[in-house]
Amino acid sequence: MRFDIFTLFPQMFAGPFEESIIKRAQENGLVEVAIHDIRAYTRDRHRTADDTPYGGGGGMVMKPEPIFRAVEDVLTDSVGDSVGDTPVVLLTPQGRLFAQDVARELATEDRLALICGHYEGVDERVRQHLATDEISIGDYVLTGGEVPAMVIVDAVTRLLPDVLGDPFAAAADSHATGLLEHPHYTRPYDFRGWTVPDVLLSGHHGEVARWRRRQVLRRTWERRPGLLEQADLSAEDVEFLEALRVENAS
Ligand SMILES: C[S@@+](CC[C@H](N)C(=O)[O-])C[C@H]1O[C@@H](n2cnc3c(N)ncnc32)[C@H](O)[C@@H]1O
Repeated sequence: MRFDIFTLFPQMFAGPFEESIIKRAQENGLVEVAIHDIRAYTRDRHRTADDTPYGGGGGMVMKPEPIFRAVEDVLTDSVGDSVGDTPVVLLTPQGRLFAQDVARELATEDRLALICGHYEGVDERVRQHLATDEISIGDYVLTGGEVPAMVIVDAVTRLLPDVLGDPFAAAADSHATGLLEHPHYTRPYDFRGWTVPDVLLSGHHGEVARWRRRQVLRRTWERRPGLLEQADLSAEDVEFLEALRVENAS
């Protein structure tokens, strides 16, 4: 999969994609991340990429021309693709909320363009006539779309085939099944008197799986009970949750 990121601050991406799993995924040819400097697509002497807002008010607005030029140039020329085939995502706090199901949806694409806004935001015509999708990573406002772009690249990349060492890891993660994942422990068995639950050392796979499932249900019930309403639950899960409710009520 290929990500094309359009930004006024390409240096912000030095680092996050050069470590760990995302770095390995690039080295293994599973993912390609291209960072494009919007300023390189300006045409004036001062390389102006933003201007004051029509109608007055504070702040600056990113101009439409360099953004259109950058996205159209890159998506049309580099691999013979056309703008129309590639989703063009505008990062904005006004977009649809990013969540695991959106990451799964984006992971089915071959290529994704991400436009990072900055300052007061981008000229509305980018949203209207260039972007095909708008995504927010949460109900808060950041200074720019660079961190949201990193979040999306990270969450989508780890869902791609062969990116994670353990092919089943992503399937068990929190939110992958609509529930929160069970807790994890590693050595030492005893750390400052806090020991690992003995069932995890029992070597009994059935018991371990049962304990983990119950932890998944308990955690979700304690922290995000709303998630249980949409979850796929077995009769045993429902019975366990009912027992939890009774236990908590007494
Ligand atoms: C300071 S924000 C502009 C916010 C804009 N004035 C508004 O109220 O909707 C600058 C840029 O940061 C990015 N941004 C900020 N918060 C974001 C979020 N929660 N999700 C995605 N992008 C965000 C967007 O690209 C946005 O254009």
